[in-house]
Amino acid sequence: MAEPLPQCYLNGEYVALRNARISPLDRGFLFGDSVYEVLPVFGGRMFLFCEHFDRLARSLQEIRLENPHSHAAWQDILERLIARNGGGDMYVYVQVTRGMEFGRNHAFPAVVKPTVFAMASPLPVFTEAQRAAGLSAITVEDFRWGRCDIKTTALLANVLMKQQAMDAGANEAIIIRNGQVLEGASTSIFIVRDGVLITPPNSHRILPGTTRDATLSLATGVMPVEIRDVPLAELRAADEVWISAATRDVLPITCVDGSPIGTGLPGPAYLRLSESFENLRQRLAGTPAYTPA
Ligand SMILES: Cc1ncc(COP(=O)(O)O)c(C=O)c1O
Repeated sequence: MAEPLPQCYLNGEYVALRNARISPLDRGFLFGDSVYEVLPVFGGRMFLFCEHFDRLARSLQEIRLENPHSHAAWQDILERLIARNGGGDMYVYVQVTRGMEFGRNHAFPAVVKPTVFAMASPLPVFTEAQRAAGLSAITVEDFRWGRCDIKTTALLANVLMKQQAMDAGANEAIIIRNGQVLEGASTSIFIVRDGVLITPPNSHRILPGTTRDATLSLATGVMPVEIRDVPLAELRAADEVWISAATRDVLPITCVDGSPIGTGLPGPAYLRLSESFENLRQRLAGTPAYTPA
């Protein structure tokens, strides 16, 4: 993984990431009382800005923490951060915690002053060889909490699942609950069967993926789309499996638990969709990230 870019934003100031400091009494540190967003930047422009900041607003509302900024203010903060880090292609990470009080109490502090942090990092690189061969995944049983629709930084279960995948020499862990496929440890999931694109429905058990929604929009009208439960057996028998995430677009999974998916190579539906994704990126390049109503 490449190092983050040098400048970050912390509580109203731009500072060197290496010098940024928060209190050990911050509730993000003590309780994971905190939510976040990750969004890609192409040519200096944030991609799917409104979708990400609508989701951040929802995450904050669900944890009963007031959004510290309007969409327009968030845009301004992040555009400055991107410019201070030289623009171009990168991704931006934003985190809002319920701040700190002098003590450790589960209940909310009487006065909440959120901690607002943002940093930028280079986008992960997927080599041509990886795109050509596809990635691999293992399946794991779900042992996360019951509100996976909130993008909280309390990610220990996802961390352990991802490490299990790494230990097995795989790229992603696909999460299964009661025999149904939910999502990856840090990705949404799709299968293709007999030309139909299928993805599990949003619920409290999965994060509503921004890239998932963009993928569904691109696929609609090009191929039949079904949003429904996906049993594990159907994942194993799929012609194609894809994962999606903001920093990775859509990527093909060609091997699950050591067995090939379909032909064992990225399939024709994936190749078509990834071309549409690239076209979408180019269409959005140069348009404003957000226009206040
Ligand atoms: C658990 C989980 N599901 C799905 C996603 C994909 O969401 P998005 O496409 O908005 O990045 C992520 C991304 O971090 C994730 O952590």
